[in-house]
Amino acid sequence: MADETTSPESAEETPRALDPLASKPTKPKKRLSNADEDEKRVDRVRMRRRDAVLHMMAGFLTLNLFAAMKFFFPRTLFEPKTKFTIGYPTDYEIGVDTKWQASRRIWVVKNTEGIFVVLAKCTHLGCTPDWKGVENKFKCPCHGSGFTAEGINFEGPAPRPLDRCSVELNASGEMVVDKLRLFRADQFDSDGALLRT
Ligand code: FES
Repeated sequence: MADETTSPESAEETPRALDPLASKPTKPKKRLSNADEDEKRVDRVRMRRRDAVLHMMAGFLTLNLFAAMKFFFPRTLFEPKTKFTIGYPTDYEIGVDTKWQASRRIWVVKNTEGIFVVLAKCTHLGCTPDWKGVENKFKCPCHGSGFTAEGINFEGPAPRPLDRCSVELNASGEMVVDKLRLFRADQFDSDGALLRT
């Protein structure tokens, strides 16, 4: 008597149309042709280039934005005032007073004639000389120019005496210095170049 049970081998031979549970045959993977792969590679390169261009444009626009914003917030320079008070004539002793050198770049000199204010700027190339009390002279550290206490050049390359700033009394008797009004040696007799005391 023939065996009616189905062997596994025979099940495999069952037509798929008659077996609804059988999985659909998978399509064989389509291999990309060389032309397709080249096209994909070109696309990738194009995308990378596009990204680079976009990044550059974003950087450029950001820089311009910052530049435009700086226009609305200008950097403010706070220059020291050029006109200021330095106290009363009686506040000063005979001699050279250097207390304003660092903050105002001036020296206040008092002698038997009166008070004058010397601009602490070498007439050679603009360095700030030092007051050498022991030697009774201003000495420029840059190229060695020397000036007397009156600001007269006597050594080194400085071509002329130190300039003086205008000094006058205000209504309350305080001395007011104006650094924008300068006097050269041939103007030392002018009003403002010397405050007679
Ligand atoms: Fe003063 Fe040159 S700057 S000697």
